[in-house]
Amino acid sequence: MVGFENAKKSDNGSNNKNPLSEAVINLDQGDPKVFEEYWRKMGDKCTVEIKGWEMMSYFSDLKNLCWYVLPELDQAIRGIHAAVGNATTEGRYIVVGNGSTQLCQAAIHSLASLHSSHPVSVVAASPFYSTYSEETSYQRSEIYRWEGDAMSFDKEGPYIELVTSPNNPDGTIREQVVKKPDGNAIYDFAYYWPHYTPITHSPDHDVMLFTFSKITGHAGSRIGWAIVKDKEVAKKMVYYLLLNSIGVSKESQIRAAKILNVMKETCQSETESVFEFGRDKLKKRWEMLREVVDQTHIFSLPSYPEAFCNFFQKPIQTYPGFAWLGWNEESDLASLFRNQKVLTRPGSMCGSDNKYVRVSLFSDDAVFSVFLQRLASITTDSIH
Ligand SMILES: Cc1ncc(COP(=O)(O)O)c(C=O)c1O
Repeated sequence: MVGFENAKKSDNGSNNKNPLSEAVINLDQGDPKVFEEYWRKMGDKCTVEIKGWEMMSYFSDLKNLCWYVLPELDQAIRGIHAAVGNATTEGRYIVVGNGSTQLCQAAIHSLASLHSSHPVSVVAASPFYSTYSEETSYQRSEIYRWEGDAMSFDKEGPYIELVTSPNNPDGTIREQVVKKPDGNAIYDFAYYWPHYTPITHSPDHDVMLFTFSKITGHAGSRIGWAIVKDKEVAKKMVYYLLLNSIGVSKESQIRAAKILNVMKETCQSETESVFEFGRDKLKKRWEMLREVVDQTHIFSLPSYPEAFCNFFQKPIQTYPGFAWLGWNEESDLASLFRNQKVLTRPGSMCGSDNKYVRVSLFSDDAVFSVFLQRLASITTDSIH
């Protein structure tokens, strides 16, 4: 009952009044502020110093197909995957991008350009990460077109399926659902890390996307990477990056390399591992959230099976960074939360129903606690 009682506690009468109690809180975006506490504790371990004359060139390593990537970042990426066991990198190309958002566009463009018939359909099983539909449609490309839910996709011709596992917004483990010839899959593994989900195997798909944003919380560095099997696809992605941004900031790369190396060194430590920190934080948040949801009798949350985690060497639960919250009413759940001054992502943006919302659990503690209080204050009487 700890979560519910804490959540119900009124701000009036409490000694430490939360300054956010009247504020609009934004849980629509997945801004990973939750990790700041951890990095503050790590102090100067990840501080990098860059002199005025360093890293001025566009280029980094002309022997690498991805010529703008710093060798230390390429090695750090391979190193963290080897330490965690969540992707095969041996003999694969690492293409670094300005976040995995840019790489997703580069991968779609590159794969689509390999097909002879256009436009190539782009699909993802609902509920999907809402940015996919936005970024794919926004481009108005002649060679690919957003076609929505992969579950109901029945068009002829080439297609690209975006598979997010664990899924954003609902945390489920996903595999490709379209099983037709002439298709490609892009696996988005933004959340396939031990703080969110059991690491059950080391995937080796043709194109896999990872983002620095959700491993360490350094979303502002804008670093993501793709692990790519096919040389032609990797080359085309690098060419896209050349035309789109002429590579990726060296300052961000050097910082990411440093942080990934520190993560690797500390990942087995019970006191210093970011995975232990993230897991513990999200576990507590999910426990509190489930308790409040159970008490309200209004909302529902998905449940997740336990699985053996090769990284932690024990069976563990999934604790996603987003809650896929639903209710049984026919009306729009996001507007109920808006009335409570809580911004959430409506289910319809994820190709689903507005009976669902996606709530970010990546906020700092103060915002999360205000969210629980507001959730706990919603009663059956107050909504009718
Ligand atoms: C599934 C998924 N893919 C990609 C991204 C984008 O990551 P980046 O910050 O690297 O662009 C996010 C961010 O929320 C995400 O949830």
